[in-house]
Amino acid sequence: MRIGVLTGGGDCPGLNAVIRAVTRTAISHGDKIFGFKDGFKGLIENKYIQLNHDSVSGILIRGGTILGTTNRDNPLKYEQIVDGKKVYVDMSRVINNNYKNLDLDCLVVIGGDGTMRMANEISSKTDIKVIGVPKTIDNDIVGTEMTFGFSSAVDVATEALDRLHSTAESHHRVMILEVMGRDAGWIALHAGIAGGADIILIPEIPYSIKGIVDTINDRIRRGKHFSLIIVAEGVKTPQGKTITRDEEEKKPDLIKLGGISNWLARTIEKVTNVECRATILGHLQRGGSPNSFDRVFCTQLGAKAVELAYNGKFQEMVALVNNKITSIPLSRVKGVKLVKPDDPLVVTAKDIGISFGE
Ligand code: F6P
Repeated sequence: MRIGVLTGGGDCPGLNAVIRAVTRTAISHGDKIFGFKDGFKGLIENKYIQLNHDSVSGILIRGGTILGTTNRDNPLKYEQIVDGKKVYVDMSRVINNNYKNLDLDCLVVIGGDGTMRMANEISSKTDIKVIGVPKTIDNDIVGTEMTFGFSSAVDVATEALDRLHSTAESHHRVMILEVMGRDAGWIALHAGIAGGADIILIPEIPYSIKGIVDTINDRIRRGKHFSLIIVAEGVKTPQGKTITRDEEEKKPDLIKLGGISNWLARTIEKVTNVECRATILGHLQRGGSPNSFDRVFCTQLGAKAVELAYNGKFQEMVALVNNKITSIPLSRVKGVKLVKPDDPLVVTAKDIGISFGE
């Protein structure tokens, strides 16, 4: 077979591990692999490299993606400047021709929910046969119990909490760690439990300042003059205001979330006598090596994607279901997988006394 592969959307730890697994599985069966540069842009501009053992050697542990990525270029609405004006052009015919000229049998698309939806739409409008591999540190893709990159991001957030713990205790402060996740609280929930947070704030569970302050004061009464709070970037103020890093952006997908921890620190300081400090972890969660779990997981996902190609199972997304690597139709990847307020992990956290600021 001749298989194309690309990475789309924001990067995360493990992309290279998947590229490596796809390449090595295909090569070991005598097949050919072509990697497109910078996501769908590479397919539009016909920029690709043939991947071989050498090109994927040593990349298992490397962060980022050797192919490059972008979370901007949608081939069905490709932004171009014509006569000084922004226009959006349907490039489906162009990508179809490039795919056919390279005589590809299918395209493995490694990306987040947006990329999965795009891949599905492309496959319905062209002859391109796609297989999706879900990635994102946010862990919010519908149809899979976990996305790769998530576990590594949780490790980074957990280490950050561990480090904040000692300085919080020394200074008798409230330390707030803000983590990524967009509208989903998975990173905050998992890292909060792993790092022993006293309060976990996630977008899916409404909180009040009183709820937070009560927990801090309870701890002070028990002789604990410091508290650790982890907050997901998508948490709004109790009045429902979203805190962002750029006020102008109107498109929900492009809004740069960030800053709720600073707002909380100011607000908590005003109503308590405790000093508060905020740390925004940001893209540190996205960069760097995948952890051992993700390396194994990515290897399984990449090998499974090629197995699907051999079985002629297209328009599918590789997925973890009931803890097994399988696949689901791409058409089922709709919406966002959020934390349910009665998720067993939320229940466990509450059982051991972690507050959600309610
Ligand atoms: O979806 C992954 C993610 O890291 C989110 O957690 C975060 O809100 C967003 O991407 C940041 O995007 P960018 O890298 O474009 O700032």
